Amino acid sequence: MQITSEQMQMLLETSRFLNSQLELEKLLELVLERAMAVVSAEAGTLWLAEEDGYLAPFVARGPKADDLKGLRLKPGEGLAGQVVAENEPRLIKNVHLDASWAGRFDDATGFVTRSLLCIPLRGRKEVIGCLQLLNKEREQYFTESDLDIVLAFAWQAAISLENSRLYTWQGMLLNSLIRVLASSLDARDPYTHGHSERVSQYSVMIGKGLGFSPEELELLERAALLHDVGKIGIRDNVLLLQRPLSSEEWNIMKMHPEIGTRILADLEPRQLAEGIYEGAMYHQEKFDGSGYPILRG
Ligand SMILES: [Fe+2]
Repeated sequence: MQITSEQMQMLLETSRFLNSQLELEKLLELVLERAMAVVSAEAGTLWLAEEDGYLAPFVARGPKADDLKGLRLKPGEGLAGQVVAENEPRLIKNVHLDASWAGRFDDATGFVTRSLLCIPLRGRKEVIGCLQLLNKEREQYFTESDLDIVLAFAWQAAISLENSRLYTWQGMLLNSLIRVLASSLDARDPYTHGHSERVSQYSVMIGKGLGFSPEELELLERAALLHDVGKIGIRDNVLLLQRPLSSEEWNIMKMHPEIGTRILADLEPRQLAEGIYEGAMYHQEKFDGSGYPILRG
C-alpha cells in the first residue's frame, strides 16, 4: 500500500480527533469529511444501519447530497446495502465499465458518477454501516491504494462510532430512567402534576441565561427532575392534603430533601452524581439559610 506522508498525517490526526469526540453527530460528519479528504473524493455518504436493518444516509456531502434526505435502503438494496450485507468493500474504478452498476441515483438526480468506493464499517459484532465515496477529483479514478487507505481509516472510525453510539444510548437510557422516576413521583400527587418536568425546563432556561456549558445544563436538568424525589417517602395523608398544613405536618413535609438525599445516596459514579444529590438536599434552602433542611451540627 502506498500512503503519502500527507495522508498518513491526516490519518493520525483524524484518529486522535475521533478518540476525543463522543458526540455522535459531530463524529459522523468528521468521519465522512476526513475520508473524503484523504482520497480527494467529490461526494460521499455515511450510511448507518438502523434498528430494523434498513440503511439511512446519516451524513452526505457533495453536489446532490440533499437528494438523499429521507431515503432508506432495505437490507441488501443498492450498492451500500450489498456492501453491508456481504461485509466486503467494493471498488468500482470506472462505473461505465462495470456491468453491475445500475446508476439509479444518477438517473434520479442528474449526478454523474464516474468512480466509487464503498467500505463496510465493521463494529465489534456486526457491520454498522458503510462509507460510500464518489468520484476522485481532477477526473481521476479511485485506485487500490485509495481503497487500502480508506479501509485503514474505516476500521478506526467504526470502533469510534460504535463507542459513541453506545455512549449516546447510555445517556438516553439514563435520561429516560430519570424521567420515569420523576413522573412516577408526579403521578402520586395530582396537585403538583408535571412539577418536576416544569422545574427542570425553567432550570435549564435559567442555566442557559447564566451561560452554563452543555455538560452543566445536562446535570442541572437531571438534578431538577429529581429534586423532589424524597416526596416518595412522604405518606399520603400529608402529601395529598388539600388544606394548609399544620406545623406538625409541615415538619413531616420538610423531611423530603433528606429522604431524597438518602434515596439518591446510592447513585454512582459519585463524581457524576454529586450535583443530583445536592439538588435534592438543598433545593429548599435559601440564601440567608432560613430554608430547610435545618442541618443539625
Ligand atoms: Fe421540594
